[in-house]
Amino acid sequence: MDAKDPDQLSPGEAQAELAALAQAISAANSAYHTDDAPVISDAEYDALKRRNSLLEQHFPQLKRQDSPSEQVGAALAEGFGKVPHRVAMLSLENAFDDADVTDFDERVRSFLNHQGALSYTAEPKIDGLSLSLRYEQGVLVQAATRGDGATGENVTANARTIPDIPQTIAGAPEVLEVRGEVYMSHADFAALNARQLAAGEKVFANPRNAAAGSLRQLDASITAARPLKFFAYAWGELSQPLAATQSAAIAQLAAFGFQTNPLTVLCAGPDEMLAQYRLIGERRASLGYDIDGVVYKVDDLALQARLGFRSTTPRWAIAHKFPAELAWTWIEAIDIQVGRTGALSPVARLTPVTVGGVVVSNATLHNEDYIQGRNSAGEEIRGGRDFRIGDFVQVYRAGDVIPKLADVDLTKRPDTAQPYHFPETCPQCGSPAIRAPGDSVRRCTGGLICPAQGVERLKHFVSRNAFDIEGLGAKQVEMFYHDDLLPVKTPADIFTLEERDNANPLQKLKNRDGFGETSVKKLWAAIEERRRISLERLLFGLGIRDVGEGAARDLARYYHSWTALIGAVDLAHPAALRQIAADEAEAQERAEASHQGRRAQLAKVRAAIWEADPLPSETTAAWSDLLSIDGIGAVLAVSLVTSLAPGGHEREAVDALIAQLREITPPPARASASPVAGLTVVFTGSLEKMTRAEAKARAEALGAKVAGSVSAKTDLLVAGPGAGSKAKDAEKHGVKMIDEDAWLALIGSSGA
Ligand code: IVH
Repeated sequence: MDAKDPDQLSPGEAQAELAALAQAISAANSAYHTDDAPVISDAEYDALKRRNSLLEQHFPQLKRQDSPSEQVGAALAEGFGKVPHRVAMLSLENAFDDADVTDFDERVRSFLNHQGALSYTAEPKIDGLSLSLRYEQGVLVQAATRGDGATGENVTANARTIPDIPQTIAGAPEVLEVRGEVYMSHADFAALNARQLAAGEKVFANPRNAAAGSLRQLDASITAARPLKFFAYAWGELSQPLAATQSAAIAQLAAFGFQTNPLTVLCAGPDEMLAQYRLIGERRASLGYDIDGVVYKVDDLALQARLGFRSTTPRWAIAHKFPAELAWTWIEAIDIQVGRTGALSPVARLTPVTVGGVVVSNATLHNEDYIQGRNSAGEEIRGGRDFRIGDFVQVYRAGDVIPKLADVDLTKRPDTAQPYHFPETCPQCGSPAIRAPGDSVRRCTGGLICPAQGVERLKHFVSRNAFDIEGLGAKQVEMFYHDDLLPVKTPADIFTLEERDNANPLQKLKNRDGFGETSVKKLWAAIEERRRISLERLLFGLGIRDVGEGAARDLARYYHSWTALIGAVDLAHPAALRQIAADEAEAQERAEASHQGRRAQLAKVRAAIWEADPLPSETTAAWSDLLSIDGIGAVLAVSLVTSLAPGGHEREAVDALIAQLREITPPPARASASPVAGLTVVFTGSLEKMTRAEAKARAEALGAKVAGSVSAKTDLLVAGPGAGSKAKDAEKHGVKMIDEDAWLALIGSSGA
């Protein structure tokens, strides 16, 4: 759409565009909500909505009865019941080349301190959607999608219609959760699309979408008519182990009557894994169903247990992806999107092209350096070729990620194409957009006055891993943000919606388009429910730059309560400012004396700033505590402390939110019965019975916090031979010190 300035539109043109927008948005809504097959990206959808609001602002008299700005999509429709997964459904880390695979094997062996080769299974990675099947006493009682990994959707009735899924199993353990992939074969997909077309129904973009759309039907008879298949490759809760190895467990699942993938083999190490990868790659085109890589898993289940999990992926498995699919197309425009932290992200609008079965019309351009053909270190990429509007470019998709541009064909560059000038003001609010030294990203300085940041933050706030309020998704937040009657500009406003609606007896939300008595009641209940929230979801939901889910969890585990955390933030604030000053002084010194690059000098400049006039000891203590949390570095600490600084707008908004909440729950001690739960432990020196990484993972699994340095808050120092300064620190702070054997005795393990 060539978006004309609204001032230049005649009322007739505006009316026609508003009609077209209403139609496009409504089509996008039903594709998204009812068909599981989005026809446009979220960003495109947002752009349509923004354009619609802009035109409505300019031509209020032309606002349609069925205006999309008054609608909240179909998300409030009755959905599936929720199923909490007793064992989380995780995703997999990705490997993209041979070196990533050998690295994986090395990391596994080094974590375990395992000499010699390890065996792994290798099997196709099926491109479908994962499903967890629960059998009790051998009877299928529940089927659930992955959802967010912790909670899925109850699709039991639908799963029962899939012939590959046994209804009963003879000789199964009392509780057996079988996990695997639901998929559709190429032949079935083509036949289904032909039927859909003949019946005037929508066709699916690819077999994966068709499988997802078919499984997530509210009417199971529709699922029954769709030819779905299932491969079993993993398990969840078990009342007794299936076997001692991955390969034997898969054989057991096959014996129970499941389909398991015939290309699953046991490999003696990376060479054989890579050989199987090549073999599967060669067979890929003739398999008759989509796969997008090969999954390797440590075969020995006892070793899998020792390796355990990171926050969302197991350490014992990796997915080796097939190379991305490529296509060539034209850049029609470059748009700038403003994210929740104010980052200006350039997006290339492309002439639509099919890449690996999916129509692509947008690609990320990352940042201004990337457009110019440089990486973050200022080095040339793509031979220094820049991207311009009008260029012929190569697009690729790697898995589910946003499409990217690989290269540009300069022989096809139009003579009129100009180098792209990155905006220096925010396209949304007009505030200056600046680039901090060393940052590749230009950011809008408008903060809360920038509508784009405001909306994006709210979207993040209500997102699945943050507040996750049912019936209040991105689309609804967008609507409320621009709403005159019930505006929601900050998270706290969400919690006053009901009260404000009650205070307005004439124009109630339930009487508006897209809402009703029941949906509004449900919405109020869903909001009410979230007045009780876990500390980690709260922290993640605030959308502080650099504070992702992992950091939010680490912070929550360390501080345990909002009061403790915000108290520490307040105390640490002067130290964070000092840190910024030291960073700036160092950057300055570096720029001036770049050719000399004297480290000692830089350190001196830094030290001078810190020592200029001593900070109160409770400030330094709070700051070093924060930095002692494993995984929390100075950049994150500065972000956290400065964005929550007392007296700022941000803090006001956060305090207003906190005042609306009823209870902020601490993270569960992971194993409260363990003797080390809740203790802060530091490891130092060399450990002999297990690696440092394993020791840390094990301690965390038992509910201990593992810190990187010793402070007054440390409960225990586990010191191996060669312990140096940390042992001295421990003495200074009167921290208890034990050796590795005593530690193992304490956690009740002999080590190996
Ligand atoms: S194992 C704890 N094996 O890929 C890890 N996953 O990117 C359990 N997938 O969510 C997963 N084929 O939906 C595993 N042979 C296979 C797979 C497979 C497809 C999917 C699965 C998972 C996703 C992770």
